[in-house]
Amino acid sequence: MKKIILFADPGIDDSIAIMYALLNPEIEVLAIVSSYGNVDKEQATENIAYLLELADRTDVHIIGGTNAPLSGEIPKFYPEIHGQEGLGPIRPPEDLSFELTNFSKIYDIIENNKDVTIVDVGRNTSLASLFLLGENLTDAVQEFYIMGGAFMVPGNVTPSAEANFYGDPTASHLVMTNFDNLYIVPLNVSNKAIVTMEHILAILEMTNHPLVQIMDEVMKYYIDAYKKLVPGIEGAPLHDVVTLSLMVNPDMGRTIRREVEVLTSGEGKGTSIADFRVSSTPSEKNSNIYLEVDYEMFLKDFMKVMSSAGK
Ligand code: BDR
Ligand code: CA
Repeated sequence: MKKIILFADPGIDDSIAIMYALLNPEIEVLAIVSSYGNVDKEQATENIAYLLELADRTDVHIIGGTNAPLSGEIPKFYPEIHGQEGLGPIRPPEDLSFELTNFSKIYDIIENNKDVTIVDVGRNTSLASLFLLGENLTDAVQEFYIMGGAFMVPGNVTPSAEANFYGDPTASHLVMTNFDNLYIVPLNVSNKAIVTMEHILAILEMTNHPLVQIMDEVMKYYIDAYKKLVPGIEGAPLHDVVTLSLMVNPDMGRTIRREVEVLTSGEGKGTSIADFRVSSTPSEKNSNIYLEVDYEMFLKDFMKVMSSAGK
């Protein structure tokens, strides 16, 4: 059983990742940290609150994260991929009631729970803020799973940069260079975690759990967006879900232990770099980059977790 604090910016794949985490018996969600990214922080927070309500899990803390990158630049959002409100065509109800918990709650949770894993599937600003606030988390947190970067494949926002690292490269660089026990799930792996409408419809046939009920509309929007971006693609990659799936099934992928740097300025802003030359050596700290994932295993795990909802 993994106890996690999930940092997210829902966003469609973040939302499916939240559903997956809540429905997976191998995962205990202690809190969700809401930050800007695919949408602004207020919208991300409402989406998290809505998903928790549908899951009947309003006991999970929603922690207020960051509004903008460390550079202070105004963030760019992605309605063409995630929808205006981040859930495709779906809008959380107006009368949603929830409380936003203070950022410092993260320290209490880490202190009161042994072996917490932090999973960050958004821009790394909130996570980097934990370091900037001066607390040493290296010993207290078991491991950090980060969706971000692109190794030996093109980026998805610039020719070489992936969206999470590009969104706040200073924060990502800080996390990569100062945190230990890192497991990085980059685009070269997450791009392969493709889920199609057929998979979603098959899940819907097996459960009528309220959380899963909104999946077809949400995923249809996301898949249509990807079809415009990547001609010939049959579904859409669930970057943030495969990160969680690898966390609970680490043998589903292959990692290499290397130091990671993130370029913070210039043409290559947000680009992730690691040395993969035959002459290179493993990093001194425990920093692991996923290079491969077993797609069939991922799909099996995703279908099993989502279709067992409510059973
Ligand atoms: C990552 O960027 C976001 O748009 C997605 O939610 C995912 O976390 C993929 O590059
Ligand atoms: Ca995300």
